[in-house]
Amino acid sequence: MLKDYKFDLKKKKIWVAGHNGMVGKAILEKLKNRKLSVLTVKKNDLDLTNQNQTFNWIKANSPQVIFIAAAKVGGILTNSLNQFEFLYQNLMIQSNIIRSAAENNVQKLIFLGSSCIYPKEAKQPIKEEALLCKPLEKTNEGYAIAKIAGLKLCSYLFKEHNKDFITVMPTNLYGPNDNFDLKTSHVLAALINKITNAKKYKKESVEIWGTGKPKRDFLYVNDLADAVCYLAENYSSPEPINVGSSREISIKELAEIIAKQIGWKGSFSFNKSMPDGTMLKKLDTTKISKLGWKPKIDIKTGIKETIKEYEKSL
Ligand SMILES: NC(=O)c1ccc[n+]([C@@H]2O[C@H](COP(=O)([O-])OP(=O)(O)OC[C@H]3O[C@@H](n4cnc5c(N)ncnc54)[C@H](OP(=O)(O)O)[C@@H]3O)[C@@H](O)[C@H]2O)c1
Repeated sequence: MLKDYKFDLKKKKIWVAGHNGMVGKAILEKLKNRKLSVLTVKKNDLDLTNQNQTFNWIKANSPQVIFIAAAKVGGILTNSLNQFEFLYQNLMIQSNIIRSAAENNVQKLIFLGSSCIYPKEAKQPIKEEALLCKPLEKTNEGYAIAKIAGLKLCSYLFKEHNKDFITVMPTNLYGPNDNFDLKTSHVLAALINKITNAKKYKKESVEIWGTGKPKRDFLYVNDLADAVCYLAENYSSPEPINVGSSREISIKELAEIIAKQIGWKGSFSFNKSMPDGTMLKKLDTTKISKLGWKPKIDIKTGIKETIKEYEKSL
């Protein structure tokens, strides 16, 4: 990592790829709040899996900074049933953008990895060095292999071609514009959906898979957007950097907070025939803390905002 490194986003032409997704929207909002100049393009006008289209768009629009928030993303079920699509589409999207960026003199590129690409049995809390130290989780292997390839493309370009292309590794995210579809969503959004329905249809109980005891680390998406902008300006290294909340919460506690915020007074049943997965999954955030960044939004406030946005969308 370069000592005393600074990169100023001001006066730069910035492209947020995937600006319509949960993360992309939050990054776009953050940059616009700072009155920075941001390019966006709709998926209908630019399919990022298409190499020529992507290269030509980057050449014609000449962004100086790129945030890659475009990806094929999904929960455990969709991931495990569609490994080919998760591997293929992510490989294409990221490779097209990264190679075109390198060939068109992009000054800074921020690629997003994920905590779920660390090995299944990685020591907790997970340090950046744990990458590739043990076998991957099978259910999202395709997605993880694609993301690791993206990370390595950035890392090799950094080391071999002096490109300031970095990889940020976010923990589980939640917030406005999350995916609340029960078939494809992650746990926090699924709980908001289920508990909202329980209140609406006056159900007395909501089922939770497993014992409710596993602990996870959840970060509000606006905090992630703040972190990636901070890292764009303060981090330059071929090694990835974790972004997490630095706190863990059990699934049961999470469900109780959501129920309280929604105002549902029923009880939870725990389907213990379903697997718990790892009992603790949390990112080690020593590296980003040392750089001077920490999250600002606590879980209760974040959940309150997420429920508000979800209710508006119904
Ligand atoms: N969500 C999490 O908990 C989490 C955790 C860690 C890391 N991340 C990382 O954060 C990034 C963004 O995730 P997200 O949750 O914001 O996902 P998302 O809401 O699904 O957003 C992904 C965006 O990519 C766009 N996209 C997909 N395929 C495209 C293509 N072929 N051409 C152009 N655009 C395309 C989508 O457009 P359409 O909407 O039009 O399909 C969407 O706007 C991903 O790299 C993910 O790995 C997410």
